[in-house]
Amino acid sequence: MKKVVLAYSGGLDTTCCLRWLRDRGFEVICFSADLGSEFSPEDIRTRAGQGGAVNTYVMDLKKEFAQEYVLPSLSAGAVYQGKYLLSTALGRPLIAKYLTEIARKEGAGYLAHGCTGKGNDQVRIEVNAHLLAPELKIIAPLREWELTSREAEIEYAKKHGLTHDASAEKIYSIDQNLWGISVEGGILEDPGQDVPLNSYYQVNPPEKTPDTLQDVEISFEEGVPVRLNGQPISFIGCVQELNEIGARHGIGRTDLIEDRVVGIKSREIYEAPAAWILHTALRELEHMTLDRETLAFKSFVAEKYAQLVYQGLWFSPLKTGLDEFAKSLRPRITGTIRLGLFRGLITVRRRFAPHALYQKEIATYGEGSSFDPSHAEGFIRLWEMPFIRKENT
Ligand code: ARG
Repeated sequence: MKKVVLAYSGGLDTTCCLRWLRDRGFEVICFSADLGSEFSPEDIRTRAGQGGAVNTYVMDLKKEFAQEYVLPSLSAGAVYQGKYLLSTALGRPLIAKYLTEIARKEGAGYLAHGCTGKGNDQVRIEVNAHLLAPELKIIAPLREWELTSREAEIEYAKKHGLTHDASAEKIYSIDQNLWGISVEGGILEDPGQDVPLNSYYQVNPPEKTPDTLQDVEISFEEGVPVRLNGQPISFIGCVQELNEIGARHGIGRTDLIEDRVVGIKSREIYEAPAAWILHTALRELEHMTLDRETLAFKSFVAEKYAQLVYQGLWFSPLKTGLDEFAKSLRPRITGTIRLGLFRGLITVRRRFAPHALYQKEIATYGEGSSFDPSHAEGFIRLWEMPFIRKENT
């Protein structure tokens, strides 16, 4: 019998996929990854079992996700189109990797996923899976079946006695992991409409945030956050705690008309409090510790890195190379940044870095600067020389 590994979330789409694949003669193995959403392994197992899966893998991959996917992206400084810290996009290659590993272990020749034919996630899962295991064939039921609406899927589930908790009036399509929440669909598709309050999931709307500013102090060692407000903390712990604190203060919500890989412009709302706080703090520390040439080059790297992640090219040679570049700078990036959080805004309050290139004795306008201004005139004459033609007199 043909075997397929299905990326299974337990939602309506993938529940219908499971049945649909069985009806096409496949033995279905389900795989679900916990990347930090609300997640019940028991429910997933029960549902997959009821749907007729021959085997179900439910794996807690939060740690691997944080260490191997989120942290490199944070180091690189990746932000897609200025507003998206890539939470969903970073999770897909990890899912693709496990799909291929399980397929090889189970001797399955096929992978399947429940992504639509209009989005980025199909690209990310398929390209990354093929980069790792070119021999596997991929099935995307949503691109070929006749269930073209949510109502049709609900009807199909009913007809086959499949349990799900979807209702016809589900307002938004949501994807969540520890690095952020993506919200799209429904009224959000109209960019001329205000964002409704019911589209807020984690982050407080600004009008409901506390009246007082809250400080957070993040210490990094070699580019990795290791202490929060002076207390030692794991990277995941830091993300979880900053998500809570940041969400309370309305931090990290962005509204983006974004360019999908498949050419469509779409409107997506993101909530990523911890991600924005850590991104802001780390960039501040880099400005204290890296020279201007490196900073300038690093901003190109950040832009390219974000495109590669967004466009499904995680396991590509260029992305791997850019990781090496960002990693090579990490030993310089040690220090502490204190930020203020207030009504959706992050402000920088204090910066400390033991090996900073910022040196007060050079920068100061006060007494005792070690900078000798008499060198400035000669420097300026040479600096301008390439641009100015001197007539012979
Ligand atoms: N637009 C985002 C991306 O391409 C998120 C996709 C999933 N979003 C969702 N609301 N289900 O990474």
